Amino acid sequence: MTGNNEHGTPLGVALVGCGIIGLNHAKAIALHPDVAITALVDAIPQAAKALADSIEADGAARPGEFASLAEALAAASVDLVVICTPSGQHIQLAQEAIAAGRHVLIEKPLDVTVPRAKQIAAIAAQAEADGLVVSVVSQHRFDPASVVVAEAIASDGFGRVTSAVASVAWWRSQEYYDSGKWRGTWALDGGGAVMNQGVHTVDLLLWFLGRPVEIQAHTALLAHGRVEVEDVAVATVRFESGALAVLHATTAAFPGLSVRLQVHGSRGSAIIEDDQLEFFHTAGDDDGPASNQAADVVAPGELRGGERDPDRFAIGHLRQYADVVAAIREGRPPLVRVDDALLALAAVRCLYLSSTLGRSVTLDEVLDGSLDQVTVTTSGAA
Ligand SMILES: NC(=O)c1ccc[n+]([C@@H]2O[C@H](COP(=O)([O-])OP(=O)(O)OC[C@H]3O[C@@H](n4cnc5c(N)ncnc54)[C@H](O)[C@@H]3O)[C@@H](O)[C@H]2O)c1
Repeated sequence: MTGNNEHGTPLGVALVGCGIIGLNHAKAIALHPDVAITALVDAIPQAAKALADSIEADGAARPGEFASLAEALAAASVDLVVICTPSGQHIQLAQEAIAAGRHVLIEKPLDVTVPRAKQIAAIAAQAEADGLVVSVVSQHRFDPASVVVAEAIASDGFGRVTSAVASVAWWRSQEYYDSGKWRGTWALDGGGAVMNQGVHTVDLLLWFLGRPVEIQAHTALLAHGRVEVEDVAVATVRFESGALAVLHATTAAFPGLSVRLQVHGSRGSAIIEDDQLEFFHTAGDDDGPASNQAADVVAPGELRGGERDPDRFAIGHLRQYADVVAAIREGRPPLVRVDDALLALAAVRCLYLSSTLGRSVTLDEVLDGSLDQVTVTTSGAA
């Protein structure tokens, strides 16, 4: 819908879903000079009102408040629709936004089912051909540490990438799961520690190691009640390249530790711990390990309000907004494509199906629909 910013008007955003992550998007948008929230949409009017109050209190123009995306698109100036609703409610809204000719940014995960995600991938491919930008949030791809590792792999700096170890050792309280009816359900959360909290790390694993072919996994619910999904998962992953990886994701590691990702190759290795480069050694690097040598990927001029000290979480989203906005303005694809998110979702579903069926499962089985009728379960859950 919108190309070059000839008139200096920021892109108008309709933010759909004004909950926890919606607030974070509002913080990120406030820091980007070329994007402004014009509409807030939430099924609960109070949620939209509370966010509109806080945007206004921060000195920005008060966005309109709407109960549905259709109303927002009819009444407000909207170039980009940002979808921050529960995970099982992403696709329908994305379809509606694309059908209305708007650019779309969808929160992770793309969806909770592969058939629906394949549907949106096909629609997004057509939309891209028609000049729309459709992207999915994976803000850790924009962490300086992730960028450095991806570039090292692409330039053969690690030699042949041989293996990876990924661990998401977090804690989520029972109150967290009780805080929303959709949390911890297969229908709307789509899974637990892997689908909700771990999907970022799965996406990084795939970005670094390529397409997975086979996963063997176990999942369990061990430290929470009143949820259907896992709070512990372990898996081994075999990649098309031949590389092997171990994945561990949990929300039952009190008091909540780090996210750690080790990538190893025949000539170099890296360790990313909580988004920071803890170890980095590439081919020809005689100086031993270096730490945090990554350059920031957001140029200072892209930030609005240099005095402010936004939290790290909003900075991650801001970096992705910088890419999405540039993609819209320049008429190019965004860094994170819908197909990337589809692959990450398929890998997570592959893990759940492996645990449910008690055997290794191939990604092809997940993508070709032959396991669509299997109801996934987790050991220890109701
Ligand atoms: N990128 C990240 O790091 C990150 C972090 C947290 C959550 N998320 C994702 O963001 C999404 C939302 O998570 P959350 O924690 O903000 O949830 P939340 O429950 O705090 O907020 C969701 C909001 O959406 C509203 N809503 C529900 N259905 C709607 C509809 N059809 N139309 C309009 N509004 C609707 C709800 O009323 C609620 O205000 C999830 O998909 C989650 O996986 C991403």
